[in-house]
Amino acid sequence: MPQQYSQLKELDAQHHLHPFTDHKSLRADGARVIVRGEGPYIWDSEGKRILDGMSGLWTASVGYGREELADAAHAQMMELAFYNTFFRTTHPAAVRLARRLAEIAPENLNNVFYGSSGSESNDTAIRLIRHYWVLKGQPKRRIIISRKTAYHGSTIAAGSMGGMSHVHQHSYPVYEGFRHVMDPYWFGEALPGETPEQLGLRAARALEEEILRCGPENVAAFAGEPVQGAGGVKIAPENYWPEIQKIVDKYDILFLADEVITGFGRLGTWFGSQYYGIKPDLITFAKAATSGYIPLSGVLVGDNIVDALMAEDDDFNHGYTFSGHPVACAVALKNLEIMERENLITRVKTETGPALAKLLAKFKDHPIVGEVRSVGMLGAIELCANKKTRQRFEKPGRVGLICRNHFFNNGFIMRAVFDTMVCAPPLIWTQEHFDEAEAVIKTSLDATYEAIKSEVTA
Ligand SMILES: Cc1ncc(COP(=O)(O)O)c(C=O)c1O
Repeated sequence: MPQQYSQLKELDAQHHLHPFTDHKSLRADGARVIVRGEGPYIWDSEGKRILDGMSGLWTASVGYGREELADAAHAQMMELAFYNTFFRTTHPAAVRLARRLAEIAPENLNNVFYGSSGSESNDTAIRLIRHYWVLKGQPKRRIIISRKTAYHGSTIAAGSMGGMSHVHQHSYPVYEGFRHVMDPYWFGEALPGETPEQLGLRAARALEEEILRCGPENVAAFAGEPVQGAGGVKIAPENYWPEIQKIVDKYDILFLADEVITGFGRLGTWFGSQYYGIKPDLITFAKAATSGYIPLSGVLVGDNIVDALMAEDDDFNHGYTFSGHPVACAVALKNLEIMERENLITRVKTETGPALAKLLAKFKDHPIVGEVRSVGMLGAIELCANKKTRQRFEKPGRVGLICRNHFFNNGFIMRAVFDTMVCAPPLIWTQEHFDEAEAVIKTSLDATYEAIKSEVTA
């Protein structure tokens, strides 16, 4: 390890608490130090080059090391490094980005409320939703229904809206006013003999049943990720979203699409809502808005909600120091320009998305693979003990971790969500990167199989 990095592992263990981590075991093992990124690759402190199949964390869509983005940040810092957007002030970068977002968003979403993380923006959305119903004279409408393994962030409100029990565990008591219904996850949730369409319908009905259980007059909104990312790249059956839209319309509740992962071209359209033809009243975004070069998030807010705010003489008492940070907005504008100029979103539809589907399909007959699935540049490989019955391995996550380590040691990153291997490659991948990934996936799945062969039953 080069000398400049040799002490870093130790210092990290002494001073740095990482997100979502077993700190005891991390301190024992030491963190992996990532020191550089260029295009679709990152390098660790040992000098190892790694193909990043996760875009950092669903984030670095245009790849690493883009001078143009650094230049945009530099120029903005020299011109106006910071000014707030409270107290009736604004600045050019925040305005230009707001305009650009309105152009690419679904047509009823023409305003943005900025933040710096997906969690913050989901908190903003929760407040806006509840405030909207107060303004509409229906203050009892407070309940927000989401899904059981949804991830909407780590603040206490966004974590409560999310459905992950291990997140709730640490914010006990979970905030009142959230309910969680089943995921439209065929591989994990289907009953014996149930088709994806039947499962899609059952999962959509679960929303309607919950609305009726709560009393429609108490329900404010439904929140969902167009594709559940951190939950395991769960892609809903085709009939699910049209059914959900019908239910949301029928009970006149607001619809929040959390597009922190699916925004900015990941599915081959600017937003996942456009891909699925759904009509949310709010979209939250973050991550790939700047390709992760600098934190920026936001809520795209529907005209119905903005009209309600405009009818009011009072303040909406909410905001962050860094709402509409000028440097972040300038980088986002440049990032969107690059995406457009390099045709990255059309390429997801016509080239990279189909290439990812083709790559994953090559592994569907592997002895430990129960299912492969993808939409656009989001993909998953389900590892299981029995392909026919979809029976999982004992101790969820153990085999996924073995597999993830093989991927990493072979120079490729996919993330393990328990025993579901997920990927979200940068949108700049070309055929050579798909070929490189294919070779590593093959070697790593084979090595994983060798390690746990005795547990495989079909
Ligand atoms: C769908 C979704 N929403 C919200 C978040 C939270 O975003 P952040 O980590 O920026 O707070 C994430 C993070 O992965 C996410 O995947």
